[in-house]
Amino acid sequence: MSNRLKVAPNDLSAFWMPFTANRQFKQAPRMFVASKDMHYTTSDGRKVLDGTAGLWCVNAGHCRPKITEAIQAQAAELDYAPAFQMGHPAVFELSNRLVDVAPAGMEHVFYTNSGSESVETALKMAIAYHRAKGDGARTRLIGRERGYHGVNFGGISVGGIVNNRKMFGSLLTGVDHLPHTHLPEKNAFTRGEPEHGAELANELERIVALHDASTIAAVIVEPVAGSTGVLIPPKGYLQKLREICTKHGILLIFDEVITGFGRLGTPFAADYFGVQPDIITTAKGVTNGVIPMGAVFATKQIHDAFMTGPEHLIEFFHGYTYSGNPIACAAALGTLDTYKEEGLLTRGAELAPYWEDALHSLKGEPHVIDIRNIGLIGAIELAPIAGQPTKRAFSAFLKAYERGALIRTTGDIIALSPPLIITKGQINELIDHIREVLRMID
Ligand SMILES: Cc1ncc(COP(=O)(O)O)c(C=O)c1O
Repeated sequence: MSNRLKVAPNDLSAFWMPFTANRQFKQAPRMFVASKDMHYTTSDGRKVLDGTAGLWCVNAGHCRPKITEAIQAQAAELDYAPAFQMGHPAVFELSNRLVDVAPAGMEHVFYTNSGSESVETALKMAIAYHRAKGDGARTRLIGRERGYHGVNFGGISVGGIVNNRKMFGSLLTGVDHLPHTHLPEKNAFTRGEPEHGAELANELERIVALHDASTIAAVIVEPVAGSTGVLIPPKGYLQKLREICTKHGILLIFDEVITGFGRLGTPFAADYFGVQPDIITTAKGVTNGVIPMGAVFATKQIHDAFMTGPEHLIEFFHGYTYSGNPIACAAALGTLDTYKEEGLLTRGAELAPYWEDALHSLKGEPHVIDIRNIGLIGAIELAPIAGQPTKRAFSAFLKAYERGALIRTTGDIIALSPPLIITKGQINELIDHIREVLRMID
């Protein structure tokens, strides 16, 4: 008898769940068994309104026919092709389609399987780029406090979330951090980009003065920091970072794993802020979250720096077995078709004012100490319970789920990022659930 058959179907212990309170979950499991458009269905048959696009990824809503059909057809025709030294048509078609929607200047795409791998790829690409140009001393990487760049060693090293770092040893060497831009005492309840804090970008000059520009390869930031609780860049901050990077020959990497593919009402955050990075990392929305895939965009300048030497030699010693996997490519093509047909990469811009008003109507509700929004992202920050950080927001999450809304919490912050197909009525419904929950919890 195979091992598999010996496992009782209702035994929850074998699965060690990621970023989950495992013991709490297994006492009272929350299971989704189906999904369609804006809703999940739970194992006890309830509909739950998706306020988080799964994990910031299901931008076009759930079980969209174009994506499902594309995956089915590709799986029946070409299931896998080696990613190294071989190609298949879908990956080339997808690359051209992605470059078409990407910010100007992004001309090449490198595939990964997740946001974390996109980040590792971008960091390695940046260091190797300088070396390929004969500038091999540029190896330092600059991240930012409260940044989230996935969970691999490069990502947690440049990242700035203490719980993601403190258990895992000394991390990468040669990393420094900009200060975060969260200034609640000055910017609380700002609608959109905060007024105060652009000068925090000047801290990069201090870091350059400490290490010397000739040792720094790249700065990586999320244009809008998502997983740390939605920190919106102060007006002018990203522009200043760009200027300082350019002045010192440092590459600017935008981690757009969350902000890519329409989340701010523009295809990418680089478009929203009018700032051109050198490398953009993406994942999540590239396949609508349906099949794991990440895509790293690079400028021609970066790509071409590698294209030297004998032509039979590999130029970039990097890649994954599943880079540009045919079924993931099919999912991404179906996703891009859906985005295009329904105008989803810009729909957020139309809805953003309504979304903003709805969110800010929660000002004055119990426990609320700040509300932040941009595009179709929102955050409601709650005062923590003394001595029990995160508990209040976690209670809100559980209560919202019981009432029929999926929200996400990080620390004591409720973070919202609904699918881009949400209607005004569903925005009201989501916010009403949260209002009721805030009135219920301790
Ligand atoms: C900005 C950012 N970078 C990287 C990641 C990591 O992505 P993944 O979980 O697909 O590895 C995330 C995930 O939320 C993210 O928000």
